[in-house]
Amino acid sequence: MSGQELLKEYKVWDRTTRWFHWINVLSVLGLIAVGTVILNAKPLGITNDGKIELKTLHVLIGYVFCINLAWRLVWGFIGNRYARFRAILPGGKGYMKDVTEYLNGFMKGEAPAWLGHNPLGRLMIAALLAVLIVQAGTGLIIAGTDIYYPPFGNKIKAWIAQDQTQLDLIQPYSKENVDEEKNKEMRAFRSPIVETHETLYFLLIALIIVHVAAAVITDIRERNGIISAMFTGRKFFTKRPCDWQG
Ligand code: HEM
Repeated sequence: MSGQELLKEYKVWDRTTRWFHWINVLSVLGLIAVGTVILNAKPLGITNDGKIELKTLHVLIGYVFCINLAWRLVWGFIGNRYARFRAILPGGKGYMKDVTEYLNGFMKGEAPAWLGHNPLGRLMIAALLAVLIVQAGTGLIIAGTDIYYPPFGNKIKAWIAQDQTQLDLIQPYSKENVDEEKNKEMRAFRSPIVETHETLYFLLIALIIVHVAAAVITDIRERNGIISAMFTGRKFFTKRPCDWQG
């Protein structure tokens, strides 16, 4: 870029999208941090009471994460044009052509300018959203099967109770009022869900590393301010971005 080319400012991310992004970053980091401790509870010598506290904290952060994610999914239909699913997910008319042009341009150091996510960025957003949605779903189910938290805690208590009139006696890590056979069934139901939750934790960490690296590399190569845009809502270009519709 020569010093004489004029930089023009373009609005891209609306306020809801920016708030979603940073609440998501904080809650996911919190979930990963507490999840890592839960995963290593045994070698760390954490007691059952400690585990219950950690799981409760994890689930409380999880609720913030789920509500924020649910609102973003609604915003994908009603947000500004750059926040909508049509703009952030791969696919649609001409998508493969956009990918090829972007890749060819990127190799030569002259990638086409995109105001919203570039065609490769859209693949990453799809992968991240898919993993986050499954983490939210599996997390909400296991919160019910383990510490009996909403939305499924009461249903799970009713499933494993010996006496349906005394559901309050069922408490985390206690056998009181728990039917052993039914509890075994419930644990078998929960086991693949916990496994999925754990596997996706590793996949999510890998995706986050690629996502952050890609954002930094793109910011350095294209110099459009894609990272600061998540704070300010604005990017800068010398030529008109191909997805801009003033
Ligand atoms: C980005 C999202 C999330 C990540 C990365 C994450 C990560 C983890 C990890 C690593 C563990 C330990 C797994 C194990 O002990 O085998 C865990 C456990 C757990 N998570 Fe999450 N989690 C997420 C979201 C949620 C949500 C939204 C909820 C519920 C609201 C939730 C509820 C739980 C519960 C109850 C456990 C304990 C499972 C057990 O008994 O071992 N998680 N999570």
